[in-house]
Amino acid sequence: MGKDLFGNVLIDMKEPTLLYKQKDHAIYWLGITDDTAFRCNAYLIVDGEEAIIVDPGSRNHFEQVKKRVAQIMDPESITGMILCHQDPDVAASMVDWLALNPKTTVFTSPRTMVLLPHYGVGHFTAFDIEENPRYELPSRRVLSFITAPFLHSPAAFVTFDESAHFLFSGDIWAALTTEWDLVTKDFEQHALNMDLFHIDYMASNVATNGFVNKIAHLEIDAILPQHGSIIINDDVPAALNYLRTLRCGTDISYPELG
Ligand SMILES: [Fe+2]
Ligand SMILES: [Fe+2]
Repeated sequence: MGKDLFGNVLIDMKEPTLLYKQKDHAIYWLGITDDTAFRCNAYLIVDGEEAIIVDPGSRNHFEQVKKRVAQIMDPESITGMILCHQDPDVAASMVDWLALNPKTTVFTSPRTMVLLPHYGVGHFTAFDIEENPRYELPSRRVLSFITAPFLHSPAAFVTFDESAHFLFSGDIWAALTTEWDLVTKDFEQHALNMDLFHIDYMASNVATNGFVNKIAHLEIDAILPQHGSIIINDDVPAALNYLRTLRCGTDISYPELG
């Protein structure tokens, strides 16, 4: 992928933003558009007849995200949703998506799965990402799922689109800011915005550093977190290094044990 990945992407808040397209495989940023420091990113992966929403988000934003999907395809034709953990800003709208299409498959980890019924959903089709860490799309492109224990949920995981080299990272590399851009512009400033989230939410340096070791072999062109800006190009190694050196969670709460 060239240096200018996303270089020419213009965001129209009234339209879905196309981030990647190759033949019948496309990835969109769907929003949300609300000007809040805790902005939630929902993404859509379309591959032939399949369409998977990544972290669809809060019930408050369901209508907005559905509207964006409707500009691409019939929202009732969504075939799957990836829920990187059980938090309401990630998963609460599953109730509404399943009401729209009860056949939608939920891709998540077993420990997340047991909590999801508390949103008031009945039976749904589950795909266990720990039992099946690879999912082949109709085009034979592959999504791989990598667990990220205690970042921040014990059962958190990330999704790697192997053909696009996109890493959907959930709360990992999330940043809080109202000065938001779709793609990071100034990584040093961005690191401060990530600190606002990571220091309080992520478990420890053992968890962040261990995770970086786990994904070190991946060729990542873009990191797409659930909050804040997308990280690309030279900022990707800087983002990995950020997690390597981060002190957070119990490192801060119990410094005498560090
Ligand atoms: Fe979370
Ligand atoms: Fe989140």
